[in-house]
Amino acid sequence: MARKKITIIGAGNVGAEVARQVLAQNLGNVVLVDIAEGLAQGKALDMNQSGPILGYQGRVVGTQNYEETIDSDIIVVTSGSPRKPGMSRDDLFKTNFAIIQAVVGHAASASPQAIIIVVTNPLDVMTYTALKTANCPKERVFGMAGILDSARYRYFLSEALQVSQHVIEAMVLGGHGDEMVPCVSLTRVAGAPITELMSLEQLEKIAQRTRTGGGEIVKLLKTGSAYYAPAAAAVRMVAAVLNDEKALLPCATLLQGEYGFADIVLGVPVIIGCQGVERVVEIQLEAQDKEALTKSAGVTQPLCRQVDEWLN
Ligand code: APR
Repeated sequence: MARKKITIIGAGNVGAEVARQVLAQNLGNVVLVDIAEGLAQGKALDMNQSGPILGYQGRVVGTQNYEETIDSDIIVVTSGSPRKPGMSRDDLFKTNFAIIQAVVGHAASASPQAIIIVVTNPLDVMTYTALKTANCPKERVFGMAGILDSARYRYFLSEALQVSQHVIEAMVLGGHGDEMVPCVSLTRVAGAPITELMSLEQLEKIAQRTRTGGGEIVKLLKTGSAYYAPAAAAVRMVAAVLNDEKALLPCATLLQGEYGFADIVLGVPVIIGCQGVERVVEIQLEAQDKEALTKSAGVTQPLCRQVDEWLN
């Protein structure tokens, strides 16, 4: 069987780490694309030279255009502009909207059957932009946020409780921002409800640290933002598609009535398999989680309408 082809757009910190993890997990060959001259080519060469030591089977090609990406199975979009000093969230939104529109336009026409995983922020509305630009069935374009946010939450919980992170089950739903929803009702430790092991007060502190988890890392790094965990989360989604796992994961997907929301992209539990988002799973949420999800959707809604306006 031929190796799968995974295109990664953006060879910055996140894109390069996605490439490295795809190779390490032997998921296929990688095409790394970046607009910056030599960046993707240089990182590809460096990674390929680690192959004889680490025993990768796949290869990486670095490029500035889309020829090499033709007929990719999966496209991971990480290209974007970082938020520069003095830049508002709105400025970043506009800049990255233009970048997503351009790169997805090229990549989707080179690989009309590909599944597209969006990582660029602001995540939910960039996923919406990618879906509208690719103009393909909604199951084929979705975004990475929930797996990362849930991993941060699970890590903080495991530290606080001093138990293995493997026994902590949790889902962070909603938008990938300050209004994300670490669902209390879906948080369990080896099957036991979290509220039996921790006070609500302590739990809320951990939920809040999760909501600002990305910012905490930005502050420490001073330049740049998190990339090891974001890349791991994106590669988790790549593996779920390529292995047709039917994995239940929180991902950003277009809702059309599910959870009571329509025409917005929001993080909800979905089944990921070879078709992409094969199904949205509607879990009965407790009132407080449902209320928080509605608040989160309220933040994303006007951004999606703004994209509709820009695209018309
Ligand atoms: N085409 C291709 N590559 C592009 C384009 C474009 N039109 N515009 C920008 N890029 C590239 C940049 O040249 C840069 O190498 O995208 C890369 C982004 O890399 P970084 O600045 O290192 O950002 P990174 O930390 O990788 O984050 C990427 O993921 O988690 C999110 O918020 C994060 O939106 C950001 C994205």
